[in-house]
Amino acid sequence: MDELSLNDFVIVDEFLDEHRLNVIQSFFESHLEGFTKAGIGALGDHVIRRDIRGDYTFWLDRKRDSELNEIWCLIDETLYVYNRYCFLGLSGYEFHLAHYPRGGHYDKHLDQFNNRNNRTISMVIYLNKDWKKGDGGELEIFLKDGSSVLVEPIEARCVMFKSASVPHAVLASNKPRFSLTGWLLQQPSALGQFFG
Ligand code: OGA
Ligand code: NI
Repeated sequence: MDELSLNDFVIVDEFLDEHRLNVIQSFFESHLEGFTKAGIGALGDHVIRRDIRGDYTFWLDRKRDSELNEIWCLIDETLYVYNRYCFLGLSGYEFHLAHYPRGGHYDKHLDQFNNRNNRTISMVIYLNKDWKKGDGGELEIFLKDGSSVLVEPIEARCVMFKSASVPHAVLASNKPRFSLTGWLLQQPSALGQFFG
């Protein structure tokens, strides 16, 4: 929590234990047919631009995907801890599985939509067995001082960052790259009332 507050991002290795890894990896394999090309923008803005992002995604649904229960509980706990120690007022989350085929990348961006600004913390959990140097697919995080950090997408690693203020990119991957990616959400501002 301190690290995220201080640096705007944090890397937590071995975020998933062996059991949860097995659960999510076999779920991934059995749902590969359901993946669709990811787009950019929310709702009305949704467009597919392979030059900007090359991944395929599968949106998860907590009720439907109850075999992932132990993962949902871990995410609940993470949200609870952020609310308790960082007073973020998080009220929900949205997660998808992501598959970047060989050569897939995602240009530099923020995890916010023009017409929706409630994504608060981005969470990416990598599911890649035997990831080696040279495999590419690093997450590049751009820092305020102009430098950047490269994060290798190694199995069970979780990276979290502030969705609205940390520009980031996914470098071209030299082999298929898998992750569980999601956003901890604050109440959508559109649901609030405006007074004067
Ligand atoms: C995203 C994203 C980063 C990653 O899906 O918005 O930036 O490392 N993913 O997969
Ligand atoms: Ni992103």
